[in-house]
Amino acid sequence: MSPTMRAVIKKALVFVSFYPLLLAWPVMAQMAAKKGHLATGKAVYEEICFACHGLKGDGKGPSWFNTKPSPQVFINSVYMSRLTDQYIFNVVKYGKLAVLKREIPDKKFESLAMPSFGAVLEDDQIRELIKFERAFSQGGPQSAEMREIFDAACAVCHGKTGRGDGERASTIQPAPKYFVSDAQPSPMNLTDPQLMARFNDDFLFSLIKRGRIGSIEEDKFDTMQPFGQVLSDKEIWSVIRYIRETFVNSNREKGYAAQKKK
Ligand code: HEC
Ligand code: HEC
Repeated sequence: MSPTMRAVIKKALVFVSFYPLLLAWPVMAQMAAKKGHLATGKAVYEEICFACHGLKGDGKGPSWFNTKPSPQVFINSVYMSRLTDQYIFNVVKYGKLAVLKREIPDKKFESLAMPSFGAVLEDDQIRELIKFERAFSQGGPQSAEMREIFDAACAVCHGKTGRGDGERASTIQPAPKYFVSDAQPSPMNLTDPQLMARFNDDFLFSLIKRGRIGSIEEDKFDTMQPFGQVLSDKEIWSVIRYIRETFVNSNREKGYAAQKKK
């Protein structure tokens, strides 16, 4: 059997076996709705979160330039749909570093931090790799040498085409539509210009060299801080509900359609 044929069959099988989960998707998405109040969520968002994530959820709040990487873009519905409510809850309550280091009470929770490659890649190779990566969203040539490195080191999580749907991203939904990684956070979709614009080259260099945890701890790049001391659980569920209903759900289908066209 040819490799392409095998891939087609594998894809079909994945689709069949996960079909019941597809049906369960709307139920999952409603979890925050049950636990939170929209009005409370709006109040919390406009008091705290807007400063970085922006009133419109575009990440361009007053602190857009002060944090590196820039704050997450909530109106990127394709990215946000890949994050489960429980992941968002944990990030807001305990901070992203604690989640990545699994220092949270929820032990069942899967988390996968971007690993470090400083031991296996030269600095010059990392710089070339960043150019290769940028070409996923910006177009332009991708060198064959970097393709080899990418396939060997990155594709297992980020996928051969850079969509964040590699094997270790472990789909619970067929990719790319409704792709959710059960290892949270899901590997970045490198083909998405809106998301890649959050990262400058210095950050990407630190990320690839030291990994996500190292880039936060050793190089002091920013990340999502914990808000568990200032917000109650109810308030956190409420703000998640607000984010889902206001920024994510409203343009989800549009987001997938745009991604499919590419
Ligand atoms: C001081 C700035 C700042 C404030 C205030 C802030 N955030 Fe963030 N947030 C960030 C940054 C920076 C990131 C990107 C972190 C990264 O990529 O590791 C982020 C990422 C996130 C993410 C995505 C995590 C991921 O893995 O992609 C969520 C969800 C989030 N914030 C929710 C909130 C909520 C809810 C509030 C309000 C209670 C809030 N943030 C307030 C800076 C902020
Ligand atoms: C074991 C899985 C894994 C491998 C291998 C991997 N990554 Fe990642 N990568 C991730 C995860 C998970 C994230 C999301 C991290 C986050 O949100 O904190 C990520 C995020 C990223 C980001 C975006 C930064 C961010 O904060 O979201 C870039 C760029 C990236 N990886 C590049 C690479 C490159 C280049 C390679 C190969 C040299 C690579 N990755 C290998 C898992 C992986």
